[in-house]
Amino acid sequence: MAESWTVLKLLRWTAEYFAGRGVDSPRLDAELLLADLLQLDRVGLYLNFERPLQADELGAFRERVRRRAGREPLAYILARTEFWSLPLKVTPAVLIPRPDTELLVEEALKRPSGPARVLDVGTGSGALAIALAHERPAWRVTAVDLSPAALAVAAENARTNGVAERIDFAEADLAALPGGPYELVVANPPYIPVADLAGLMPEVRDFEPRLALAGGVDGLDAYRALARQAGRLLTPGGWLLVEVGIDQAAAVRELFAAAGLAEIFTARDLAGIERVVGARHL
Ligand SMILES: C[S@@+](CC[C@H](N)C(=O)[O-])C[C@H]1O[C@@H](n2cnc3c(N)ncnc32)[C@H](O)[C@@H]1O
Repeated sequence: MAESWTVLKLLRWTAEYFAGRGVDSPRLDAELLLADLLQLDRVGLYLNFERPLQADELGAFRERVRRRAGREPLAYILARTEFWSLPLKVTPAVLIPRPDTELLVEEALKRPSGPARVLDVGTGSGALAIALAHERPAWRVTAVDLSPAALAVAAENARTNGVAERIDFAEADLAALPGGPYELVVANPPYIPVADLAGLMPEVRDFEPRLALAGGVDGLDAYRALARQAGRLLTPGGWLLVEVGIDQAAAVRELFAAAGLAEIFTARDLAGIERVVGARHL
């Protein structure tokens, strides 16, 4: 039977199967899973449409298909993703970094000029810390998380991307952040209201770490903690920049204003959604 499955036939079958299981981009996911297995890029896959699959390849692919059809995220199956065009390892201990979060990098890069001390709160895979250290060799980054397993992944990612000497990783609770002062504090904290968790898509709800998602009753717990500590954490003139969930920007601006922060601004993502709120300690 093995010789009857060519790359093209397998892709068609898998895409249809994924579609029936509610997978968002069935053909693309089928291609990425098979290309990775055969150690080809997608163009390589297209050039090999008539290539028959060996029995061991079919067995390994079937296992991947089973996982994705069970709605496990593609990035966990491949154990890697990209953020800011940098390769990152991901495991179920870390949130899969989202393209939306690149807006926080863009906004952060506009702010401190010259050397800066930077704190990344809830670093997860290390996405923000690594992107900032990669873009700004003069910045010294401290990256904290409550999860030791996440910190291990982040530290490995920092080494892979050649920025390990410029990032210190530490286990810390965002309710009691260490050190400072910093010229810049960034955070993409957990911000989903707990009542909304059950309604998330299965890829997120059933596979991503709850610690990375749950933000308290209204989703704003982490922003309250950050606003409360901002005066102590930031240098005079230092910036606090956070990613926010849909419809949270106004509440976060209010929290920042009530904490005495100034020059409050909001940045929208490509879809026009308020995605980043920033403010300054003067
Ligand atoms: C939404 S994820 C963001 C991960 C990464 N910064 C990114 O943007 O992809 C939030 C992170 O905050 C961490 N976290 C949750 N509660 C925390 C707490 N109380 N103290 C420190 N980190 C926490 C989680 O472990 C998770 O890695």
